[in-house]
Amino acid sequence: MLNIVVCVSGGGTNLQAIIDGVNNGLIHNTRIQAVISNNPGAYALERAKNAGIEAICMSPKTFESRDAFNDAFTERMIALNPDLIVLAGFLVQIPTRMIAAFPNRIINIHPSLIPSFCGVGYYGLKVHEAALDRGVKLTGATVHFVDDGTDTGPIILQKAVEVMENDTPQVLQKRVMEQAEWIILPKAIDLIAAGNVCVKEGKVVISK
Ligand code: GAR
Repeated sequence: MLNIVVCVSGGGTNLQAIIDGVNNGLIHNTRIQAVISNNPGAYALERAKNAGIEAICMSPKTFESRDAFNDAFTERMIALNPDLIVLAGFLVQIPTRMIAAFPNRIINIHPSLIPSFCGVGYYGLKVHEAALDRGVKLTGATVHFVDDGTDTGPIILQKAVEVMENDTPQVLQKRVMEQAEWIILPKAIDLIAAGNVCVKEGKVVISK
């Protein structure tokens, strides 16, 4: 059984896709142990509670410094000791010590085809604004392992999505979620739960 902790900051539609995937058998052999949000107002916390999952809020604002938050967040995660940490729209930088404690055991969903429109400052709607500004005809989403860079870890899955004329960032974001994110994030978790994902020389190899 793969025990996962899902980290969220906002609406939690990717969290919902994982909850649904576990419940409808799309994701095998996986249990959502807890959901952690940095944002007390995140609707994702309600989604967790509605699904009977432990919902934890740890806001950096309630700590005296970022270092104090990073230490407490890392300690809490080490105590939970999940097999996999899933960043599903989590807009907080993961502490270096946590990354070191969970090597190739943290994954992130990013709403573009990495290496386009990623790195520091590219999150949420900003990613789609940048894609529309550049005039790309294809965008998409990427699931990758988290290393100590921003969006630089080994790529697990990607899925392309067409950009349409007259797209707004909001319209494009919705299409990327529906056609890519909610599909590849559950799929990546299922592949990891089945033991079919390994990292060799910095690249992901998927067996099966
Ligand atoms: C998603 O589009 C996710 O890819 C993005 O935030 C959104 C969260 O939506 N993540 C990033 O931009 C990370 N760099 P959700 O809360 O409805 O799942």
